[in-house]
Amino acid sequence: MPQPHDIPSFLQAVDKIGELRRIGVPVSKHLEITEIADRVVKQAGPALVFDRVRENPEVPVAIGLFGSHNRLALALHDKPENIAKRITELIGTRPPNSLVGMAKMGLQMLPTIASLGIKRPKDGPCKEVILKGDDVDLSELPVLTCWPDDGGPFVTLPMVFTHNPNTKRRNVGMYRVQVFDKNTTGMHWQIHKVGAQHQREAGNQPIEAAVCLGGDPCLPFCALAPLPEEIDEIIFAGFLRGKPVEMVKCETIDVEVPADCEYVIEGTIQPGENRPEGPFGDHTGYYTPIEDYPVFRVKCITRRKRPIYPATIVGIPPMEDGYLGKAVGEIFLPLIKTQLPELVDMNLPVEATFHHLCIVSIKKRYPHHAYKAMHALWGLGQLMFSKVIIVVDDDVDVHNLSEVIWRVTNNFDPERDVQIVKGPIDSLDHSAPMVGFGTKMGIDATKKWPSEGYTRQWPEVVKMDHATVAKVDSIWESLGLGDNPGSPSIDGHIRAPMP
Ligand SMILES: Cc1cc2nc3c(=O)[nH]c(=O)nc-3n(C[C@H](O)[C@H](O)[C@H](O)COP(=O)(O)O)c2cc1C
Repeated sequence: MPQPHDIPSFLQAVDKIGELRRIGVPVSKHLEITEIADRVVKQAGPALVFDRVRENPEVPVAIGLFGSHNRLALALHDKPENIAKRITELIGTRPPNSLVGMAKMGLQMLPTIASLGIKRPKDGPCKEVILKGDDVDLSELPVLTCWPDDGGPFVTLPMVFTHNPNTKRRNVGMYRVQVFDKNTTGMHWQIHKVGAQHQREAGNQPIEAAVCLGGDPCLPFCALAPLPEEIDEIIFAGFLRGKPVEMVKCETIDVEVPADCEYVIEGTIQPGENRPEGPFGDHTGYYTPIEDYPVFRVKCITRRKRPIYPATIVGIPPMEDGYLGKAVGEIFLPLIKTQLPELVDMNLPVEATFHHLCIVSIKKRYPHHAYKAMHALWGLGQLMFSKVIIVVDDDVDVHNLSEVIWRVTNNFDPERDVQIVKGPIDSLDHSAPMVGFGTKMGIDATKKWPSEGYTRQWPEVVKMDHATVAKVDSIWESLGLGDNPGSPSIDGHIRAPMP
């Protein structure tokens, strides 16, 4: 089966692995689709296509496209662990010291380099229908009202394309878009995000933006990934696809968009034009309150003849964004390690809605190393939002939360090992006294060394010796206790939570 390159081919691929259900029963885009999708995602169910949305029967809604490890691997064109390996290989590539080496490296890198380009066909499916002026009407899109107290309908899987007005560098970010009327929306780029920075740099000039839906299934991931500002999301998408992304010019603004999109919404944001946005049932599981955000004035909508509207819902975890967030952690770990070579592993648990808890294991090299690690993480891109960072030794499995709780509660002394710092925090954190600024906590749960002022004897973990384990293994069958579960303590990890 050919590699999926747009929503229709992706749906076919998802169907082929048995993870797609089409729903022919009429349902409303107002709350009902959320309630169905929420029930399905909580059971790790299939992606859904609603073929008869009551208010917009001509446009199917596709939801939950990335809501399983299999579907996400299909969308990203590979498993996250393999992508991480490819990134590690790229980072590890050292300049060769001979001509032969150079030639060999050139050959190896060829597919990677070839994938990084951009193709510019004259036209694309996203231009099959072009609506300008009075023909622009956002109510033609089945935009979901997700939760009862939401301020209105929100586009939930938008890829927002802007350019830095000074450097002209492109950014693609996923920022929710609240539909106010037929040609006006909000633009919820939070102050720490690149779209907001582009607007700040534009000063008193308007800024152009294209809100895209659909295209290659890896594109939404690229939009939400916390890529460094210097890395173009479209080049990264080329790396994931293994071939260039096809881009076409917008009709009314100087922005290029993926040719394979379902919809492209073109418009501008005027300097200083803000409007109350929200409330919105957010990925924290709470409503984010009404706040002023920029207004996006739509000039033109281009679309396919028979578009499919892609959507997601956020709310009390676990949700679809949990799969995406886990993949972000896995794929970007090698890049983070280039800044923190002591880092062994990292877990951002879904229940803590990613920013609230970051558990890392490190190979401690010197006294008080854990503090260096936490401050480095707080200084690294969107990891600055980590409300709690827990640092454990490299022998702890950070993905085993039972083990983390056991280790941390045993190993930390609250007064000695906790540090509270001030700094920018996630705009969605409602616990802070003000939006976007508050305190964060680091916990050093590593084994304490004499050089760190620990004068007592640090105890060893209770483990059985290898000889006894081998002996019990050899007689296990004769004991009549069923299958041999293996020694629970031999490697010092908690094997299973309490029965
Ligand atoms: C479904 C979903 C919705 C999101 N909505 C917003 C949003 O409304 N505003 C925002 O600033 N970030 C939002 N994010 C997070 C950003 O997409 C993410 O921080 C991204 O890295 C920002 O890109 P940038 O660094 O290019 O600004 C959302 C993420 C997901 C998965």
